[in-house]
Amino acid sequence: MSAPQLDEVFPNIFKVRQGGVEYLATRNLTPGRTFYGEPTFTIDGQEYRSWNPTRSKLAAAIMKGVALQPIKPGSNVLYLGAASGTTVSHVSDIVGDSGHVWALDFSARSLRDLLDKVSRYRVNVSPIMGDARRPEEYAVLVSRVDVVFADVAQPNQAEIMVKNASLFLKRGGHAMLSIKSRSIDVVGRPSEIYRSQVEVLEGAGLRVSQLISLEPYEKDHAMAIAELA
Ligand SMILES: C[S@@+](CC[C@H](N)C(=O)[O-])C[C@H]1O[C@@H](n2cnc3c(N)ncnc32)[C@H](O)[C@@H]1O
Repeated sequence: MSAPQLDEVFPNIFKVRQGGVEYLATRNLTPGRTFYGEPTFTIDGQEYRSWNPTRSKLAAAIMKGVALQPIKPGSNVLYLGAASGTTVSHVSDIVGDSGHVWALDFSARSLRDLLDKVSRYRVNVSPIMGDARRPEEYAVLVSRVDVVFADVAQPNQAEIMVKNASLFLKRGGHAMLSIKSRSIDVVGRPSEIYRSQVEVLEGAGLRVSQLISLEPYEKDHAMAIAELA
C-alpha cells in the first residue's frame, strides 16, 4: 500500500490520505494508546489517530468545511456533554500539553468511562461530574476558558451555552454549540429550530459567525460558532 499523505487543515488537525481514502486525524498525545478502537497511522515517526465524523460533532463540522475552528494548541476548553470522551480525547490532542480541557457530564457511567479510558492517561483533561444547567455548582473547578463547547442534546441547548459562556468564557473567546433539532422539537423544521437557537445566543451577546449543517454525518444536527463580543 502507498505511504500515507498528511495535510494540516487546522493547527494540530490533519487529513491523512491512504489507498484512495481520506481520514481526519489528530496527532496522538499518548502514542501507543488509543481510546475507542480508532485506527492509527505513523508518519515521519509521529502517531496520528483517525477521527470519525460519524462519532463526533466537532469532526463532522470540520469535514463539512467549517471556516473557523477556534480550538487550537494551548487553548483552554470547557466541554459540556463529554460522554465517555471520544471527542474529548481529540480535543486533548489538539490543545496539547500547554492547553487544558474541563470535560463535564452528568452521567456517572459516562464519567467513569471517561476517567478509566481517557483522563487517567491525559493530564490535560479534568473530568467533572456536574449538570451543565447549573454552572455555578462547578464554577470553583473551572478557570476562564478560550472556548466553551456544548454537545448536551437538551431542549434548552442554547440557554445552557449562554449560562456557561457568561460565567467561563473570556471576552473574544468562542462558543461552539452542537444543536440537535429533535431534542428541541421533534416535528419542527430543523432550519427554523437552528435559527431560534442562534437568536438565543445572539440575544446574549454571542455573535454567531457560522451555522453549519452536520448532515450527512449527523441527521438533524447543526453547529453554531459564535464569539463573545
Ligand atoms: C450526544 S452525547 C455527547 C457525545 C460527546 N460529545 C462525544 O462527541 O463524544 C450527550 C451527552 O450529554 C450529556 N448531558 C446531557 N445533558 C446534560 C447536562 N444537563 N449536564 C451534563 N451533561 C449532560 C449526556 O449524559 C451525554 O453523555
